[in-house]
Amino acid sequence: MIDQASNLRKIIDENSKETEKKNIKIYSVLSGKGGVGKTNFSVNLGIKFTQKGKRVLIIDADVGMTNANIVLGIPIRTNLFDLIKGNKTVGEIITKSPYGVDLISGGSELLEMEKLNFEKQKWVLENLRHLENYDIIIIDNGAGMTKQTISFSLLSDEIILITTPEPTALTDAYRVIKVISNNNIKDKVKVIINQVDSKSTGDDTFNKLLMTVNTFLDISIENTGYIYSDIRVNKAIMDQNPFVIKYPNSLASESIENICSKLIDENIFIKNISNAKELRNKIYRIFG
Ligand SMILES: Nc1ncnc2c1ncn2[C@@H]1O[C@H](COP(=O)(O)OP(=O)(O)OP(=O)(O)O)[C@@H](O)[C@H]1O
Ligand SMILES: [Mg+2]
Repeated sequence: MIDQASNLRKIIDENSKETEKKNIKIYSVLSGKGGVGKTNFSVNLGIKFTQKGKRVLIIDADVGMTNANIVLGIPIRTNLFDLIKGNKTVGEIITKSPYGVDLISGGSELLEMEKLNFEKQKWVLENLRHLENYDIIIIDNGAGMTKQTISFSLLSDEIILITTPEPTALTDAYRVIKVISNNNIKDKVKVIINQVDSKSTGDDTFNKLLMTVNTFLDISIENTGYIYSDIRVNKAIMDQNPFVIKYPNSLASESIENICSKLIDENIFIKNISNAKELRNKIYRIFG
């Protein structure tokens, strides 16, 4: 495990240098409970970023349950598995969408790769280094914390955690923050409250989470925004047409616009990659 960890460490170190050089910002989108809106958020935020002139790649890393392509309404002919099998190059597994964002799909066959989890991570990290021409990479993860989501979160610059106001979702979100904190994966987590009926529901939900986190954990969480519950999200999914495109003036689209502007205003292109030593320590703690 130590050997594997040191391999991964080397790759992450190199990757950090690369992303630093190219100024790529990598967001890892997480949740505790499933079905809280990660994929819709990732896809629509990605499109919003492209509308503001950023070059965006979405990586659908939800092993076995990939569906970002469905939200985007585009057919996928290639996926990460083609790269693993050696049938395609990284450039060949990128699918373009009509909305400016590009997509790499995990592919349902990735489920078979679970046993090779560590190798898979190594492979993904190696190949990400060769991706050029992007300003932002958004990794749409599966629900919960697995070694896979931990690796992707280590690789990313920022973690965005999605929850709804439901107590069950909130409890699971807290558990994710706890894993991040206990393993020193990041010292900060951005939180988005999805499916709210008002701004105050968003703020109250965030404050509830904040109180618990401040009481029990040594990590900071940031109120990055909220997304209105909006029937047009479902309508857009039925039409396989992202809601920021189909319903640009909907409450949900306005919410995404606000979040996107906030992320850009935060000077998102300032490097925020953990230094090599920190990463090395984290890798040893998690895999070693
Ligand atoms: N803002 C919203 N308003 C209304 N419905 C929403 C909103 N966001 C998400 N949903 C609903 O929640 C469902 C799940 O969304 P999504 O697939 O994005 O969640 P997920 O977190 O990616 O799920 P998984 O954990 O399975 O990957 C959507 O199909 C949609 O019906
Ligand atoms: Mg999803």
